[in-house]
Amino acid sequence: MRKDKRWKGVYSFEDSPFLMEVLTELRDKNTDSIAFRKGLVKLGRYMGYELTKTMEFEKIKVETPLEETEGVIAKDRKNVVIITVLRAAIPLMEGLIKVLEHARVGIISASRGKPPKFEIEMKYVKIPHIRPEDTVIVADPMIATGSTLIKVIQEVKKYGTPKRIIVLGVLAAPEGIERIKKEFPEVEVFVTKIDRELNAKGYILPGLGDAGDRAFGEPIKVSTLPQLHTIE
Ligand code: URA
Repeated sequence: MRKDKRWKGVYSFEDSPFLMEVLTELRDKNTDSIAFRKGLVKLGRYMGYELTKTMEFEKIKVETPLEETEGVIAKDRKNVVIITVLRAAIPLMEGLIKVLEHARVGIISASRGKPPKFEIEMKYVKIPHIRPEDTVIVADPMIATGSTLIKVIQEVKKYGTPKRIIVLGVLAAPEGIERIKKEFPEVEVFVTKIDRELNAKGYILPGLGDAGDRAFGEPIKVSTLPQLHTIE
């Protein structure tokens, strides 16, 4: 885990050859959706494991069959809420929950509008009560403009005041991190890598493309007009 010098509380995993190998597979345009989803699960699992190194554990005594010794018991790891930002965070959450198995899970749908405004629409919000001892992990693979995450964090804060709010993603653009830190200086950011920049369409460069489409396939547009049924 590497602390980024540009912001307080921003970490990447560029020093982990294993995570860089998984990221390389995700970036590759020839990686199919099965391997892409598996890669996101893998990243969620290992980033979750790395996160536990920043959490508090309590010292306890434990009796082995032979004698008493010192041990530890989870404290923060038991008090986690994972906020899954649909769609692309689903496999990331699946990986995180393997390490953070006590986690309660919130789901938010947030879709980004067209440039230049990129307005965010949240149609589905289900978040559990957030307690003062909780660590909230907002999972969103791509921290691009930061607009989605700012809306999501504003929403999450309505459900309680947690001990920590962490944004966990695969890739971030410096512009997105800058906006999040300006709005919420206390929010921590953990990403596999911080990429170079955003393009005019709001995609991260070099990036990995549209994470949702690559994991689940490109959605098609169909008419939403009600179908008329005639009864003979
Ligand atoms: N969302 C994505 O899926 N990819 C990007 O590059 C930016 C936002």
